[in-house]
Amino acid sequence: MSTPLSIIRLACATIALFGLVLIAAPAGAQQPNSVNPTARAVTEQQLLNEMSIISGRGTLPDLRSQNLIQPAGRDWRNFHQVVLPWIGTIAILGMLALLVVFYLIRGMVKLESGRSGRSIVRFNAFERFVHWMTATCFIILAVTGLNITFGRAVLLPPLGADAFTAWSQWAKYAHNFLSFPFTLGVVLIFLMWIAGNIPNRVDAQWLKEGGGIVGHQHPPAERFNAGQKAVYWIVVLGGGLVAATGYVLMFPFYLTDIAGMQTAQMVHGIAALLFIAVMLAHIYIGTIGMEGAFEAMGTGTVDVNWAREHHSLWLEEEAGKRAAPPSAATARPAE
Ligand code: HEM
Repeated sequence: MSTPLSIIRLACATIALFGLVLIAAPAGAQQPNSVNPTARAVTEQQLLNEMSIISGRGTLPDLRSQNLIQPAGRDWRNFHQVVLPWIGTIAILGMLALLVVFYLIRGMVKLESGRSGRSIVRFNAFERFVHWMTATCFIILAVTGLNITFGRAVLLPPLGADAFTAWSQWAKYAHNFLSFPFTLGVVLIFLMWIAGNIPNRVDAQWLKEGGGIVGHQHPPAERFNAGQKAVYWIVVLGGGLVAATGYVLMFPFYLTDIAGMQTAQMVHGIAALLFIAVMLAHIYIGTIGMEGAFEAMGTGTVDVNWAREHHSLWLEEEAGKRAAPPSAATARPAE
């Protein structure tokens, strides 16, 4: 028989049970995501919008490697796949087109007074060694870097997956290891030629007169003219920038987080592609753009008439040094 007490107990238990169900129901409803990832109607975009970071499971100790997809990654991918290749294409093909047009209009800058047959030392063996070491590293870094930006689109179709993979792996090793002699070269270039590369009033005049390249004048210049000084600073500052950002990329997460890595990659990519475009102009002037220029870095000497036409103040200074009587420190009494 049920007593009033047992009826009250039963009523309390029923209310408590209802209460529990009511409290638990909304919490349970929150468990599954509002988007059912396996539902057919769910598009990838909806899924990505709902779940900002999609993680998987991996074996690498760094747990960040298990974040497979995240919004910042998608923005970065767009930069890498679309924006950067456009910047590179415009800068590099634009520069090549400019140089072709310039060559067709101006042609090679000739040695107007002809060769004198006498030569003067312009760069010593150490300077040439540093230049060619840095230049060789630069060219290989440029080709292997361009492979990261354009290789998939340009080389993968003709080479096929296996050959492209093998080449890209070696290219990546080369890009990593040659970064060290390249950085050393940039530091040595900075120290070796800083004295001759501080801008001054002579440069302003040289620029006003078109540097003797645009027109046919021969404005006076010291050892390095304004154009060469510009190249020097682009190499020192641009080289420093690609080196700094490159090492951030080569040693991931030591110095920065994922946002910093993405910034480093964007700066590295843009700086490197603009750097390549500028160096094309430098290579042009040093080869087919100007008669007698290549030998300065090839053999280390230039014809005296070349020096007079392009670096008259430097020639005067060198001639003055030779004509000057030996200083007290170096003068030796006759035996
Ligand atoms: C100290 C010098 C340098 C270091 C340490 C360095 C390092 C790196 C690293 C780690 C990457 C990323 C590679 C990857 O995603 O697997 C990279 C990409 C790249 N590097 Fe360099 N690099 C250096 C110099 C240069 C130079 C001098 C150039 C050009 C002349 C260059 C051009 C590029 C380009 C175009 C990319 C690809 C950018 C992209 O599409 O994401 N790098 N570099």
